[in-house]
Amino acid sequence: MGAVTVRGVVALAKGARVSLVDVVVPDPGPGEARVKVAACGVCHTDLHYREGAINDEYPFLLGHEAAGVVESVGADVTSVTPGDYVVIAWRAPCGGCRSCLRGRPWYCFDSRNAAQPMTLTDGTPLTAALGIGAFAAQTLVAAGQCVKVDPAARPEAAGLIGCGVMAGFGAAVNTGAVTRGETVAVIGCGGVGNAAIAGASIAGARRVIAVDLDDRKLEWARGFGATHTVNASAGDPVEAVRALTDGFGADLVIDAVGRPETFRQAFFSRDLAGRVVLVGVPDPSMTLELPLIEVFGRGGSLKSSWYGDCLPTRDFPILIDLYRSGRLDLDGFVSETIGLDDVEEAFAKMGRGEVLRSVVVL
Ligand SMILES: NC(=O)c1ccc[n+]([C@@H]2O[C@H](COP(=O)([O-])OP(=O)(O)OC[C@H]3O[C@@H](n4cnc5c(N)ncnc54)[C@H](O)[C@@H]3O)[C@@H](O)[C@H]2O)c1
Ligand SMILES: [Zn+2]
Ligand SMILES: [Zn+2]
Repeated sequence: MGAVTVRGVVALAKGARVSLVDVVVPDPGPGEARVKVAACGVCHTDLHYREGAINDEYPFLLGHEAAGVVESVGADVTSVTPGDYVVIAWRAPCGGCRSCLRGRPWYCFDSRNAAQPMTLTDGTPLTAALGIGAFAAQTLVAAGQCVKVDPAARPEAAGLIGCGVMAGFGAAVNTGAVTRGETVAVIGCGGVGNAAIAGASIAGARRVIAVDLDDRKLEWARGFGATHTVNASAGDPVEAVRALTDGFGADLVIDAVGRPETFRQAFFSRDLAGRVVLVGVPDPSMTLELPLIEVFGRGGSLKSSWYGDCLPTRDFPILIDLYRSGRLDLDGFVSETIGLDDVEEAFAKMGRGEVLRSVVVL
């Protein structure tokens, strides 16, 4: 045992191309586990980190949608053992904060991460994206972040429930609480939005309206269960959603983009007493102005969804079962598999709308 040095994808400075550099991964201490990463998806949030849109704690070790095998654990760890096949979660409820104590661990305000930092070879501590940092052959996390799942689910697919798929699915099913017979619209059909579409469809929504600027994304959205599609560049998406919901608007509208204009569209394209769920992550510079009388007069709720309000130990095995039984097409999110060298190119492909997920395979 002892620290290991592996290659990892690091964002060294704001906006700069990512670099593949040596990363030192310490031996797991109390409460920690070291995981051999098998696959890790490229999420838009990785790009947000590199662009400085999350915070400025550079250098970042990117990657946070991963499945792998536990390599070693700290002395006191009993929840996982070496050899366990796990998906790494970015929420590991502490059990002691005011939200956990209230019985709502899916909002945990003090989620666990590894106590020791991973570092560059000169000792510079790395900030692991979402407390994970899995664009590397091994990573150090809190043992509670390791969620055991059925090893029959291939890692390229299983890893995606570690972030984007869980966030989107949970935005519909947990935060949005879709029920049978409802109408749902999803604005932005990347990995997160299409997972919301899949979730709404599985939960029994009557109509699922996919909204995007890109026809290719809308085509894929149909594969995940969208019953109708709207290209928002072809006209007012608010009018289009109303037209598809008998003139009323949808019961639930999910903003999986996270910009003021898409939030405004979500706000106005829902029915009276309807719900808006914001799952796309806004840039800290963005602000929103809405007529307060409309916020009041329309009733309903405006919620945001962190990680689909999931409880990983409860929800990951459910998603894996849905996948294994053919009802949740996780493979459909895997547009391509790539190497650690290809993350920068994957960001470009994401920007051009060519992929739902590029997945790094190690
Ligand atoms: N809340 C969470 O826990 C959580 C978790 C993961 C990702 N996210 C966030 O969710 C968002 C989506 O992530 P992703 O990985 O699916 O990204 P993505 O880049 O794959 O998808 C974004 C989609 O939005 C579309 N789009 C952009 N502008 C639009 C507009 N004005 N109208 C309609 N569609 C538009 C794009 O064409 C694209 O299909 C990001 O902001 C990401 O950071 C949030
Ligand atoms: Zn807690
Ligand atoms: Zn993510």
